[in-house]
Amino acid sequence: AATVEHTFVVSQVNMTHMCNEIPVTVVNGQLPGPTIEVTEGDTVIVHVVNKSPYNLTIHWHGVYQMRNCWNDGVPMVTQRPIRPNGNFTYQFDVAGQEGTLWWHAHDAFLRGAIYGALIIRPRNGAASYPFPKPHKEIPILIGEWWEKDLAAVDRNFSRGLYDEFSSGSTINGKLGDLFNCSGVFEDGYVLDVEPGKTYLLRIINAALFSEYFIKIAGHKFTVVAADANYVTPYTTDVIVIAPGETMDALVVADAAPGRYYIAAQPIQAPPPDTQTPEFATRGTLQYTGGVTNSSRADVVAPEMPHEHDTIKSFYFHGNLTGLRHRQRAGAGARRRASLRHARAGLHMPARPQVVQERDEPKSNQVIANMNNVSFHDATATPILEAHYYRRGGNGVMRLEPTSRATVVRRFRHGDVVDIVFQSTAMLQGDSNPMHLHGHDMFVLAQGIGNYDAATDEAKFNLVNPARKNTVLVPNLGWAAIRFVADNPGAWFIHCHFEFHLAMGMAAVFVVEDGSTPNTSLPPPPPGFMEGSP
Ligand code: C2O
Repeated sequence: AATVEHTFVVSQVNMTHMCNEIPVTVVNGQLPGPTIEVTEGDTVIVHVVNKSPYNLTIHWHGVYQMRNCWNDGVPMVTQRPIRPNGNFTYQFDVAGQEGTLWWHAHDAFLRGAIYGALIIRPRNGAASYPFPKPHKEIPILIGEWWEKDLAAVDRNFSRGLYDEFSSGSTINGKLGDLFNCSGVFEDGYVLDVEPGKTYLLRIINAALFSEYFIKIAGHKFTVVAADANYVTPYTTDVIVIAPGETMDALVVADAAPGRYYIAAQPIQAPPPDTQTPEFATRGTLQYTGGVTNSSRADVVAPEMPHEHDTIKSFYFHGNLTGLRHRQRAGAGARRRASLRHARAGLHMPARPQVVQERDEPKSNQVIANMNNVSFHDATATPILEAHYYRRGGNGVMRLEPTSRATVVRRFRHGDVVDIVFQSTAMLQGDSNPMHLHGHDMFVLAQGIGNYDAATDEAKFNLVNPARKNTVLVPNLGWAAIRFVADNPGAWFIHCHFEFHLAMGMAAVFVVEDGSTPNTSLPPPPPGFMEGSP
């Protein structure tokens, strides 16, 4: 196994889109940030140098971080934030998993521009993929372009003022030709293909806000993995991807040589909430040897699903099942073996709720919560540190006499935990992509309406459920998941819609040490920021 080392310098640079030059906080001056490519079993070292005016951390989304919670990168959960002009070095092994993951800032809205791909190749090379070896592998990162100051947007969101929108969507940082600046269309992302060849697209939804439909005119996708877990190959003309999810899909360049639009269209909450003006974007797929100097009018456009078609998302996600794969080993196999009985059950209604603001009793504030408690950051000591030194309290640490609190649930090492996420949205018909750190979840079932144990438990797929780190709870529906709490530490669980997270739709799961040193959390690494907040 090798060691892959990167330096991430975070700073503000000026970027221009839509006729406006604005400062954007990014890694190494680029958007998206650098791609980390590793082979399963490698060690990753990333030196973060914070030249930005913000506190920040970097999270390695979907990486198990087995017995390495100290490097998970969640501010005030696993570490103190990296201050302006500060440095921090992350180190982790990528073991027992392969596929497409990503990294992003975990502070407020900074992840709107601080993100990049993390690609884990199999130890035995592409020949061990459970699908034909692709000609090329291409990361496709869906993001948003924000002309507003994200720090200000975040402040507004945490106060429940949620009418803030991005200016456009991006594919690999590019807005594309739906955006016109003084009569000049923006350049879009271009994917060059050779006729007859197969491409593996590693699609990541890094957007703060939207679930997307992805389509390529004249081509089909075969989805082969989601969240770095292989799935039963599933052929579809549209991919549906929620914030935090990744989808690996094969595309065969088998159409007539020419140019085809690659479209990413945000799914909008259904009426009456039609106030989300999120914009679609498009790039092009073009055949080498085809006509490349044709006009925009000659590019074939896909027919997109209706923007409110959330049922399409429901079926797309319901069609994903897990694929048993001989390359899976280690933590993965152990987790699969224990997919039998749940020893702990949780019902977690996740919803926005209207409360009265204490200091301004006349205004209504919107908060999001799970089990009626809205998450509030710990303010003095990160939860992991408090847990490790046994300084923490049990259960819910209430920091304020309101419905906001630092919600911590404890599990014994090895507990098999069932959770039903119930969406009970009052104000918005949003779906909720729930993301758990440090573990994958088996998606046992999903449904529309209210979960009813008496009838719905019979629908659980205990044979080949998909394994995800981000599970989409359908719009006005529920999702039942199971995970094995076998990774000691303090793990954040939250909605990956940034505005739901900012409003408190989050909690921390503390997994206790097991009975042996091998199943316990080691001490913080040397040089870890402890002590002063
Ligand atoms: Cu991708 Cu807690 O985040």
